Amino acid sequence: MRRLAILCGGPSSEHAISLVSSVNVIAAARSAGFDVVVVGIAPDGRWLHFAGEAHAVDADDPARIRLADGGEPVALVATEDGGALHRLDGSGAISIDVAFPVLHGRGGEDGGVQGALALAGVPCVGCGIAASAVCMDKDLTKIVLERAGIPVVPWHTVRRGDDREEAARAAARFGTPLFVKPANAGSSVGITKVTDEAALGDALDAAFVHDDKVLIEPAFVGRELECAILDGTPPEASGIGEIVAPDGFYSYDAKYLDDSAALIPEADIDAALAEHIRETALAAFRALDCAGLARVDFFAGPSGEIVINEINTLPGFTAISMYPKLWAHRGVETPALVTRLVENALARATA
Ligand SMILES: Nc1ncnc2c1ncn2[C@@H]1O[C@H](COP(=O)(O)OP(=O)(O)O)[C@@H](O)[C@H]1O
Ligand SMILES: [Mg+2]
Repeated sequence: MRRLAILCGGPSSEHAISLVSSVNVIAAARSAGFDVVVVGIAPDGRWLHFAGEAHAVDADDPARIRLADGGEPVALVATEDGGALHRLDGSGAISIDVAFPVLHGRGGEDGGVQGALALAGVPCVGCGIAASAVCMDKDLTKIVLERAGIPVVPWHTVRRGDDREEAARAAARFGTPLFVKPANAGSSVGITKVTDEAALGDALDAAFVHDDKVLIEPAFVGRELECAILDGTPPEASGIGEIVAPDGFYSYDAKYLDDSAALIPEADIDAALAEHIRETALAAFRALDCAGLARVDFFAGPSGEIVINEINTLPGFTAISMYPKLWAHRGVETPALVTRLVENALARATA
């Protein structure tokens, strides 16, 4: 039986969502027959192994879920025959065959954990260091996609301390409504929809709470469509899902707390547009050197023009998240999905 370490929690603003995702992935991995080792990463960065006891408290409430107290402190180490979790109380190590970082955002989805696993010799589900880091950064993602000839939403980058006059000029050029967002964040944290240019300064301040780099974008008026990629030989694209969010802003609350957004696993779009989106999603996956999985998020305009909004290398994996939903809709239930992801990680590690 393969021993699969599932890493969850983490230091980012998406700690809680990661825990919700992990509950779903752990159940699926167990039913797929893996020997699951649960590692909760505390917000302060400590790695805690949960053996018998539940790792999450208030697991069915995304507003309150948190990592349980307890858990034995462990550290990832390289051993003669692969990686292991070394118990910090000195009582030995738990060897692991492969890891699935069910982590979202910084310190989980950004290449750091992927690098730690690589150094310890542990095969890892999903993208490697470079693709994780670039896809985490919305500015760098757009630069790579543009270079590959893939359309993106126009943007202006502002760094902390930059002249705000220039940001205001860019915003005036785009016109309202605008979106102001941290380059490296997720779950809509720190994002403001600006409908009045006078509110630009406050929106920039709100985004700079989360990052040193911020993007200003014109609001794209259209539909929000998502495509899931599952690596294999060759990588496969799912059908096209649609997010219908209130006021065209899929906010944190709409994502997790208030049920105000609808997630449609098969968007009502024509077959040619669906195929174009699938091909573009696969091209983006390749351009960014992704591996394992990614969810590629698009906007589509009224005349069928498409742009990529962003790429998530560790997309939400809760029971109601789009990534598992898109595959379930194609007949790949979550236990089979986890098996394919783990097999892909192992195959890449030995290639
Ligand atoms: N340029 C834009 N035009 C229209 N809607 C946008 C734009 N940027 C972001 N949004 C809205 O905000 C949501 C969150 O933005 P996104 O860039 O996907 O960040 P996150 O990484 O937090 O998901 C999107 O799902 C969408 O509803
Ligand atoms: Mg998004």
